[in-house]
Amino acid sequence: MASLGVNIDHIANVRQARRTVEPDPVPMALLAELGGADGITVHLREDRRHIQDRDVDLLRQTVRSRLNLEMAATEEMVGIALRVKPDMVTLVPERREEVTTEGGLDVSGQLAQLKSMVQQLQGGGIPVSLFVDPDKLQLKACHDAGARWVELHTGTYAEAVWNDQPRELARLTEATVFSRSLGLRVNAGHGLTYQNVEAVAAIEGMEELNIGHTIVARALAVGLKAAVSEMRSLVQNPRREPLFASQS
Ligand code: PXP
Repeated sequence: MASLGVNIDHIANVRQARRTVEPDPVPMALLAELGGADGITVHLREDRRHIQDRDVDLLRQTVRSRLNLEMAATEEMVGIALRVKPDMVTLVPERREEVTTEGGLDVSGQLAQLKSMVQQLQGGGIPVSLFVDPDKLQLKACHDAGARWVELHTGTYAEAVWNDQPRELARLTEATVFSRSLGLRVNAGHGLTYQNVEAVAAIEGMEELNIGHTIVARALAVGLKAAVSEMRSLVQNPRREPLFASQS
């Protein structure tokens, strides 16, 4: 049975839209855990567009499940990971202009550099996962780089029109079998939704799915009614007495 890693980047996105303090992803991670999250995932981007360094430090202290830190393969990020010591690092490609992670890492094209980073991180006691397309060349390279885990990019499956989905699902299934034959453990994620998740969760040997956007979108859908109703009652029945005795 696959477990669920909840990616909370989009909560931080809403906060950063105003550069304010709410919503704070740190207590939201606790709520995600109360809802049954098996792990919390955050992506600390080079441009700090959503998750901030302070979030990662506080999450390390408060997350009681597992903290998975997604990050680019840079010296700066490796330094942060070795200091914070998340339960797992997932290395992802990163481009400043992208709206979200596009495509998997080209592990075979930068094998020596990635191998050295995997060694540094795993030498520091942090298991490393590499985010790659479900492609044998890349999966073989992940093994050669010394990673213990891979995260299969499910974006192409998620975006496939419905009659192309079986082919993309078969690619994910074959990639899972192939990875496991190399001794790699397998996670997956990106673009999964309430509509398309089940087929991926049912793949034999799939260990964890990392899911973010659709959960945050659903939280708005199921929470907005209550939030509006609370605000409406304040607007219609405002407290008339001063908040503090000194104001009277
Ligand atoms: N896994 C990786 C490596 C990602 O980069 C992301 C997006 O940050 C996710 C999973 C979650 O994707 P989504 O937000 O589409 O569920």
